[in-house]
Amino acid sequence: MADGSSETKSSNQMWGGRFASGPDAIMEEINASIGFDKKLYAQDIRGSIAHATMLAHQGIISADDKDKIVHGLNTILSEIESGAFEFSRRLEDIHMNVEARLASLIGPAAGRLHTARSRNDQVALDFRLWVKEELQKTEKALTALIAAFLDRAEEHADTVMPGFTHLQTAQPVTFGHHCMAYVEMFGRDRSRVRHAIEHMDESPIGAAALAGTGFPIDRHMTAKALGFREPTRNSIDTVSDRDFALEFLSIASIAATHLSRLAEEIVIWSTPQFGFIRLSDAFSTGSSIMPQKKNPDAAELVRAKTGRINGSLVALLTVMKGLPLAYSKDMQEDKEQVFDAAESLELAIAAMTGMVRDMTVRADRMKAAAGSGYSTATDLADWLVREAGLPFRDAHHVTGRAIALAEQKGCDLADLSLADLQSINAAITEKVFDVLTVEASVASRTSFGGTAPAEVRKQIAWWRARN
Ligand code: ARG
Repeated sequence: MADGSSETKSSNQMWGGRFASGPDAIMEEINASIGFDKKLYAQDIRGSIAHATMLAHQGIISADDKDKIVHGLNTILSEIESGAFEFSRRLEDIHMNVEARLASLIGPAAGRLHTARSRNDQVALDFRLWVKEELQKTEKALTALIAAFLDRAEEHADTVMPGFTHLQTAQPVTFGHHCMAYVEMFGRDRSRVRHAIEHMDESPIGAAALAGTGFPIDRHMTAKALGFREPTRNSIDTVSDRDFALEFLSIASIAATHLSRLAEEIVIWSTPQFGFIRLSDAFSTGSSIMPQKKNPDAAELVRAKTGRINGSLVALLTVMKGLPLAYSKDMQEDKEQVFDAAESLELAIAAMTGMVRDMTVRADRMKAAAGSGYSTATDLADWLVREAGLPFRDAHHVTGRAIALAEQKGCDLADLSLADLQSINAAITEKVFDVLTVEASVASRTSFGGTAPAEVRKQIAWWRARN
């Protein structure tokens, strides 16, 4: 209650033993995390069931109390899932909301659940379980995005488009090759996700407040029950560590940066000036005033979500950077950053997967653009080296003169006559025209990882075997 009236002043039933009065309303507001950490209810209940089962197995609580606790926790789980559970801000967080409800359901046995643990290891456990599950979802989502790109790459292994550097036409490439560049990026994101899952696959529960416990607990048993590889090895680190959350955020930031670059390309490609792709109606919007417009809003929002995700990483790094070991309440600020970034990333990957799957690729427009801007100039220079024995630097110079001539005549390199070319260098023969087309140019780039359609198909096969 905002006026801090007397009924809010009763002391906290979980830790209020030494407190004569309850918190000020502002204290309650700044302290409470239930507004966001209720998201951890399933992890909290799973963790408590595993802990209570272990306590009974070790003879620390009775089997009868354990049964009551487990039954009560399952009741709470269905209450929360059906929407019947009433969360209370006065009870601060998800851990105390669940425990208080347990007490009202099963009486004094509920008080035994918190034996040999603390909210410090409890929150570390709940949050780690949540992040691990989120990473597993991210892995699946990235796999779907990679699959969408593999299909488009296969379809367009022969589709020629301009390759750019500085967003200036550089050399012809294939659209399939360009798609496979994204497969490589998202493939690395996915392997970062897999490494992170392995990294964080250690159970925090049993570290207690920070020093471990004198009760004869079995941390290997709880670790196994909760699907972790093993328990963490240092109780102080366990309750202090949030680098599993930072790792999630840094992976999310890198993936979001990849998504943002793709979004930027989609925005550019779908302009009438480029016209390389047409977005499906399902992933674009119209303008309320300009009837001709079809806007790439989804791509723009993916690009924008990157700002939020990168911001979350910086926010949590900043929260953590000055904290002495072990737990400090600052760490409660970890969750909203991760929840927000996770939601944004999931949405961004899903939207991108849809866009990539549904977009129409305009091969004619790509090909027309691929031939403009003297994109086969390097092929001419390479031909002069290969066939006419010129040093590359001289070949570069001869090609420059050919471009100047084409510019002067307002035509492409391939449109110059043999006489025109021979006026620049007498060693040039009719055969040069074989390399001046964009198709010949891409077909010639057969180096490993190069843009030749045959090479791109090999890379697609490599990924298909691994996706
Ligand atoms: N809500 C707290 C958090 O998210 C739980 C841990 C509280 N521990 C404590 N010693 N006050 O960090």
